[in-house]
Amino acid sequence: MITQHIIFIGAGHMARALIAGLRRQGVMGDQIQVHAPSAPRRDALAAEFGIRSLPATAQKLPAHGVVIYAAKPKQMPSVLTEWRHSFTDAGVLFLSVAAGISSTRIAAELDAGTAIVRSMPNTPTQIGVGATALYARDTTSAEQRQIAESIMAAVGKVYWLSDESLMDAVTALSGSGPAYVLLFLEALEDAAVLQGLDRPTARALAVQTVLGTAQMAAASVSSPTELRHQVTSPGGTTAAGLAAWEEHLRPLAQRALAAAAERSRALGDIKGNTP
Ligand SMILES: NC(=O)c1ccc[n+]([C@@H]2O[C@H](COP(=O)([O-])OP(=O)(O)OC[C@H]3O[C@@H](n4cnc5c(N)ncnc54)[C@H](OP(=O)(O)O)[C@@H]3O)[C@@H](O)[C@H]2O)c1
Repeated sequence: MITQHIIFIGAGHMARALIAGLRRQGVMGDQIQVHAPSAPRRDALAAEFGIRSLPATAQKLPAHGVVIYAAKPKQMPSVLTEWRHSFTDAGVLFLSVAAGISSTRIAAELDAGTAIVRSMPNTPTQIGVGATALYARDTTSAEQRQIAESIMAAVGKVYWLSDESLMDAVTALSGSGPAYVLLFLEALEDAAVLQGLDRPTARALAVQTVLGTAQMAAASVSSPTELRHQVTSPGGTTAAGLAAWEEHLRPLAQRALAAAAERSRALGDIKGNTP
């Protein structure tokens, strides 16, 4: 159970998803405060979830609270500067969801020894079925890691990384992954229409197939390869389709993830992550 006081800096999509998840988990409204420059935006969020709207900087956080940075990456430099001196209690945990902003960049704006966890959530987080990778700096206690994990687990599955440089690979896989899956759905739908199905039926069957198969893979102890072999009879229809996929899919996946990870590294340099 999360008993800490939590302040959100940013009142957009990700803050909304997390606040909804935390409230679903039973976190009390008066434990949560939200700040954004736009008063109507933060007030609307506060009213919707029964939390408190935080008007200005230089607020004090109750001891051992959590500050969640939920602004866009390009907004983060001003967020870090504006809130730099606000939360000075030694027990405060800073949890960032900003893509591509390194924990070193965040630490540079805070007192030495401050606890910092960087996370990389993805879009399905917005409906509570996200995949989030977490990385904690050495200054973060085991208890604070557990708090960060509990917060992100309110909106999906959570995975820890021991090396922050792997965030680029995570960005390439689960961060950008929802768009790959959507493109795959588009391609399946178009191909099914070429085979004679009407578009609504093609779309519905494609979406349900990907959803059902992902749920089956998640629930099974078998690997995707084993599950695939179980549904592929030699000389059958699936084998005929798979032969075409096999030819291109693996090298394509490798190229796609390499390109996305490379872009993530390059954007990280632009965002000034290198100390
Ligand atoms: N959305 C996703 O599915 C997703 C997935 C993975 C990672 N993320 C990460 O989550 C972060 C937030 O994304 P989002 O989609 O929630 O963005 P968003 O909807 O644009 O929300 C950004 C929020 O930050 C606020 N903000 C801007 N400047 C600020 C400042 N100086 N001080 C305090 N608050 C400030 C904005 O205020 P106003 O309301 O006043 O404009 C807005 O409420 C990003 O860093 C992104 O990389 C998002």
